[in-house]
Amino acid sequence: MLYTLAYIALLLILVLLIRTTYSVAVAMRKEKDLEDQAAKPDNTFWMEKMGESQGILYFGIVLTIVALLGYTYFLVLGTPWERHLMEWLNIVVRLMHITFGIAWIGASFYFVFLENALNRTKNVRDELAGNLWAVHGGGFYYLEKYKIAPKEIPRDLHWFKYEAYFTWISGVALLFVVYYFNASAFLIDKNVLDIAPAWAIALGMGSFAVAWLLYDALCKTKLVGKGIWFALLGFLIAAGFAYGYTQVFSARAAYMHFGGMLGTIMAANVFFNIIPAQKAMVRAAKEGKPLDPSLGKNAGLRSLHNNYFTLPVLFVMVSNHFPSTFGNARPWLVLLIISLGTAGIKHYLNLREKGELSVWVAPVSVLILLSAVMITAPALNPDACEEVSFAQVQPIIAQRCTSCHSSKPTDDTWTAPPNGVVYDTPEDIVKMKDKIMERVVTTMTMPQNNKTGMTPEERNLVRCWIEQGARVK
Ligand code: HEC
Repeated sequence: MLYTLAYIALLLILVLLIRTTYSVAVAMRKEKDLEDQAAKPDNTFWMEKMGESQGILYFGIVLTIVALLGYTYFLVLGTPWERHLMEWLNIVVRLMHITFGIAWIGASFYFVFLENALNRTKNVRDELAGNLWAVHGGGFYYLEKYKIAPKEIPRDLHWFKYEAYFTWISGVALLFVVYYFNASAFLIDKNVLDIAPAWAIALGMGSFAVAWLLYDALCKTKLVGKGIWFALLGFLIAAGFAYGYTQVFSARAAYMHFGGMLGTIMAANVFFNIIPAQKAMVRAAKEGKPLDPSLGKNAGLRSLHNNYFTLPVLFVMVSNHFPSTFGNARPWLVLLIISLGTAGIKHYLNLREKGELSVWVAPVSVLILLSAVMITAPALNPDACEEVSFAQVQPIIAQRCTSCHSSKPTDDTWTAPPNGVVYDTPEDIVKMKDKIMERVVTTMTMPQNNKTGMTPEERNLVRCWIEQGARVK
């Protein structure tokens, strides 16, 4: 009864919050209309406060939704609805994360492109840093960038910040849905480190904070002005994190934490540096005070760092669907190679937009990326095989796989077959032979975290049997 009441209360709060944002929006629009008709004097202060309260309301809505979901999870825990809820949460949160992420990274790419491609020389008014013509979606656009700030800050100034915040929040939510709620299955690999779920989660989240503090401290040293040395040291620290993660979590979770760590730095850059600097600039311009140029410079630099993080982060997000990336004997190495290679590609794109044609950056980056393809390749000349019969393979599958992959799993976490994959009949096994080869032999990512203790000899028997045509008789 108490549970239901609390639930209804949360729902009511959500409705109220949404209702209030709506009222605030209507009030703001009315105020704007009155101002436009000059029926009311300039009311910037009030509008600003309204804008801020709108921001707080949005956060309230997101937090309430998270609370509602967490609470629902708590209520259905242990019932058949638990898995169903997780599935849908996964879909919804993932979709949100992708959508916010596209908006954020899209804006990041776009503004770095603007900055790089500005025409700074031909017919540029004195107060301008440059301008740019573009055609998109059937219309022509003309943009101007000010050297410092316009004489009067326009009332309708567009900000880009919620994309970043919501990408981060939905990302952390997804981390919980996929890895933390199911820590013993996905986050922890006992062959890597036998660690209690609570500790692993604390380490994961704590590492994000530590990474941010380290990075932020590094940005405050003189090194930040020396591009290449800063990048080198940053890369070494990132390497430390990549290696550290793979010593604590399952390889897959380690990858995701590396991506989450970079993503956290990016979002924190927006929250602690870029937006405050922009606010200070707007304030100074409004009060007619001289602008502190270091503010804009620092924000621009952080924004550029973020730009370099984008491709490595995107790679990590995609990598979770490709066991050949994390399912390597040295997963951290593959992670670092691809981070370096993709950041290199971003560097090349940035140079190209600026009109600097660099000969080496792109080919070297591609070579670096190719080396990841090479080191993840399976052995070309595996050991010779003796004739292996299905009678030898079937018991292995039954012993090592069907505790999870059967229509009635006996595993303690998997009450339904993961990904719907079952090995109940010989046909079930033959049908999946290519995927079995990939997961059991090439990447050794199955059995999951080698929970059922499959031996190298058994993997070899499975390989020989598949290589010999996966015959049932
Ligand atoms: C502890 C439970 C568990 C055991 C034991 C296990 N798996 Fe899995 N398996 C999973 C989970 C969870 C997934 C889905 C996540 C993933 O793809 O990593 C999965 C996915 C797979 C996939 C990918 C299916 C797809 O749709 O891409 C294959 C193939 C597979 N397992 C084969 C095997 C084989 C072969 C064995 C035995 C040698 C085995 N698994 C043992 C839990 C298990």
